[in-house]
Amino acid sequence: DMGGHDTYMHKEISEQPDAVDRVLRGRIDDRFSTVHLGGLNLDAREARGVRRIKILGCGTSYHAGLIGAQLIEELARIPADAEPASEFRYRNPVVDPDTLYVAVSQSGETYDVLAAVQELKRKGARVLGVVNVVGSAIARETDGGVYVHAGPEVCVVSTKCFTNTVVSFALLALHLGRIRDLSVADGKRIIAGLRRLPEQISEILATEGDIEKLAAQYAQASSMMFIGRVRGYPVALEASLKLKEISYIHAEAYPASELKHGPLALIEPALPTVAIVPDDDLLEKNRAALEEIKARSGPILAVAHQEQEKADHTIVVPKNETELDAILMGIPLQLLAYHTALALGRDIDKPRNLAKSVTVE
Ligand code: M6R
Repeated sequence: DMGGHDTYMHKEISEQPDAVDRVLRGRIDDRFSTVHLGGLNLDAREARGVRRIKILGCGTSYHAGLIGAQLIEELARIPADAEPASEFRYRNPVVDPDTLYVAVSQSGETYDVLAAVQELKRKGARVLGVVNVVGSAIARETDGGVYVHAGPEVCVVSTKCFTNTVVSFALLALHLGRIRDLSVADGKRIIAGLRRLPEQISEILATEGDIEKLAAQYAQASSMMFIGRVRGYPVALEASLKLKEISYIHAEAYPASELKHGPLALIEPALPTVAIVPDDDLLEKNRAALEEIKARSGPILAVAHQEQEKADHTIVVPKNETELDAILMGIPLQLLAYHTALALGRDIDKPRNLAKSVTVE
């Protein structure tokens, strides 16, 4: 049942305010400015012993993991990184007893992720899951974890589950942070930020008409560039994946800082760039990248907290706490991919060559 929407993707994008509300529900502890994650199976003493966190997933779940790693480093000050599960599996990784492994999956059935979990378990590692489908294979084989509570996701491309996965990582990071060195004041600040998300997502969704108009222009492009820095880079990766999956327009994502090391050669009037430009300590650096692109007559669409003078268009998104900004900046780009694909007449819920869950190697 699409509940009045033309596609599952549109329905699922629209459900995000409720989905985020659901992942927060019952977990916030205002008294200690932390969150409770019932299924984690990691007591405070064990959590303090974690030296490093390694996040494994595929596709969109891997991108959510990249943001998750940044959140964990920022809030809990534990070194963390994310890697595609299949790459990890085939490179004979060093499995370290002080590392906590986290497997991320919407379906909980992705073979490459499951196989990585099984290999880690066999070597005695502790593995948590950040999973949407309750009782799925990865949920069952991990030692504990966080359910993402996005609800059923039918469209092959992931939208609401991506957002809820990132919020789940924010909860995990806050939980680990408050057991370690994150202050009560910072805990309160992040909790307040999390509580603002559903309303702010609704504000972004209300601008759909404007994004649809932009999409009509970008649907003409044969290729698009996505750039971001630090928190903005995984947002760029995910937006670029979304666009290629459903519109079949070729898209690349680069850290803005890498432009001058090669991809700048591609910039010309026929190659639009989508730039993630949050109001944070990297704002001036990001603006400099826009200037570089403008100087080569590259069209620019900025996703920012304020109008960007160098951009041809800016999608202004509401500001949250700096650590949480990435969660909101991806949402207008889901709509951009959606309306671009729609303008091109694509089969949005079932893109060619793709399956909802990849249960083979
Ligand atoms: O179910 P999973 O999260 O494990 O799936 C992983 C990827 O196959 C998945 O995210 C894929 O990239 C989607 N088509 C994204 O839209």
